[in-house]
Amino acid sequence: MTKIAPSILSADFAKLGQEIKEVEEAGADYIHVDVMDGHFVPNITIGPLVVEAIRPITDLPLDVHLMIENPDAYIPAFAEAGASIITVHQEACVHLHRTLQLIRSHGVKPGVVINPATPVEMIKPILAEVDLILIMTVNPGFGGQSFIQETTSKIKQLADWREKYKLSYEIEVDGGVNEKTAGICTTSGADVLVAGSAIFNHENRKQAIELLREKAKV
Ligand code: DX5
Ligand code: ZN
Repeated sequence: MTKIAPSILSADFAKLGQEIKEVEEAGADYIHVDVMDGHFVPNITIGPLVVEAIRPITDLPLDVHLMIENPDAYIPAFAEAGASIITVHQEACVHLHRTLQLIRSHGVKPGVVINPATPVEMIKPILAEVDLILIMTVNPGFGGQSFIQETTSKIKQLADWREKYKLSYEIEVDGGVNEKTAGICTTSGADVLVAGSAIFNHENRKQAIELLREKAKV
């Protein structure tokens, strides 16, 4: 069954704990945490302190998406704070292979992310190093943007490579995922759907998650 990872970027930060509990009870699989530094992306959001604060609130894995420059400097702090998965942008890593190994050395599952304009071939050499690959279906920085359809060919390619090379990474998509776009993601091969506004802008989070699963059809 398709996994759903609500992005807390669209949650009400004044009652973040409650929001997280609500999506956990509504059937979420991961809690997606968007970390932005105002350099790699034009927005500033969450740091390790917030990850540490939400860790005891939920039993779900914390899927920490680092949209920051020089992620190596902050990986130990996010691991210590309780991240379960840490994804780093290929575009932000000079020594990507080393960074992925650094994440694993802290007992955290490593993942890699690519922006819409980055060809999927850029991460082919490190496929065996990751537990998760995140395909951005919008340009990172903000919630509520429109899905970029051209990115779906990368999902297909990753699913093909996974089979061909007998690998086991999960394929996750992030950005503009809603009832209209969930289907194309999963038919292309996505296993995990990140959704911010489609879940938190919906009054009934359970219904929102069920609707995404229904449209995902797998
Ligand atoms: C965008 C973030 C996303 C964002 C998704 O930079 O990485 O996780 O919260 O929001 P929606 O689902 O509203 O596009
Ligand atoms: Zn994200």
